[in-house]
Amino acid sequence: MSLDVAAIRAQFPILASEVYDKPLIYLDNAASAQKPLAVIDRMNEVMTSGYANVHRGLHYMSNKATTDYERARESVARFLAAASPDEIIFTMGGTDAMNLVANSLGVEHLQKGDEVILSVMEHHSNIVPWHLLRERNGVVLKWLDVTDDGVIDLAAYRALFTEKTKLVAITGLSNVLGCAPPLKEMAAIAHEHDALIFVDGCQKSVHGPVDVQDLDVDFYAFTGHKVYGPTGIGALYGKLNLLNSMPPYRGGGEMIDRVTMENVTYNDPPHRFEAGTPPIIEAIGLGAAVEWMMAQNISDLCAHEQSLTQNVMETLTGLNWINLYGQDPAKGPVVAFNIDGAHPHDVSTILDRSGVAVRAGHHCCQPLMTRLGVTATARASFAAYNTHEEIEVFVEALKKAHNMLG
Ligand SMILES: Cc1ncc(COP(=O)(O)O)c(C=O)c1O
Repeated sequence: MSLDVAAIRAQFPILASEVYDKPLIYLDNAASAQKPLAVIDRMNEVMTSGYANVHRGLHYMSNKATTDYERARESVARFLAAASPDEIIFTMGGTDAMNLVANSLGVEHLQKGDEVILSVMEHHSNIVPWHLLRERNGVVLKWLDVTDDGVIDLAAYRALFTEKTKLVAITGLSNVLGCAPPLKEMAAIAHEHDALIFVDGCQKSVHGPVDVQDLDVDFYAFTGHKVYGPTGIGALYGKLNLLNSMPPYRGGGEMIDRVTMENVTYNDPPHRFEAGTPPIIEAIGLGAAVEWMMAQNISDLCAHEQSLTQNVMETLTGLNWINLYGQDPAKGPVVAFNIDGAHPHDVSTILDRSGVAVRAGHHCCQPLMTRLGVTATARASFAAYNTHEEIEVFVEALKKAHNMLG
């Protein structure tokens, strides 16, 4: 079924904004997506009529907030097709989820000399926590190269494994190249070698349905603000047997079973990993966001984004002064590019004056920039509310930037 984009747009109040007297054309969705009324209203409703701290109170409002918070966890579990809501930990975002795994799993399961495989196209959030573990515990980072289009050679991946390989940490969809690694095959190869696989799903989750059981990944993290939800919230899926075997990441209220002056014992997952007052309103907002996505039919949202991507890729390929990074035909709606002779910051500034918001920089992917031989790129990224008419304005603005800078 084709998507009623006008009806989708009507649910995002910010899209009616003007910048510099021009209609806002928001193509910075890989950095953060805008929010539908379903999320805005739900968060407002919590604060106006359903708010208290969770899990602690015996009074009506605390029970209501606790029920809503736990329902949000059930929504996230459904969104990822997890076997149980107990496998879903609320985090403060994608970065926080990765630090949780690196610290908790790292402490319990990784020793000096153990190897972690990372791809060169990881976001710094899925690199730096592993570097910290390298510095602290002496784990060894092994790097999986990708083609210029971000395609992974499974034979080269397989060849990286040794008896010391304990974990693969891989993006679900590159925030620069837009390509999506073959997670199911990569998980099977990791498991053949008795290694675990962690997926950074921060970009992937908004661009198509995810089934963590079918993929058979051990951990999968995503962030609220890229799936039309609020900032300050994310979720980590982990197989329950693994979560049960992992020590807490942070200490505080809620994550304990019993505290004495001599000792402490810990709560079961997921609460073991949610120390202190959690981001209650944000978690309920995330629940509303994933419910909203599921109600729209995620595959329809995705098909529309793919048609926008195809349109842009075809148009930009025809312009010989544009360099495109990531041309896998199956790529997601993330288009990184440079204009010959122009700095991407200048390109972004000129586009901004036409009302078009794109990102420019290294996109928190400095190893990938080194691999591609650039210091920075511009990046347009699409969401379900973008239109083909917006793409036309974007391309015209690019031509203007080329005339001024190229
Ligand atoms: C691929 C990828 N991983 C991780 C992150 C970090 O997520 P968060 O902003 O929630 O910390 C981002 C955000 O840009 C991302 O694109």
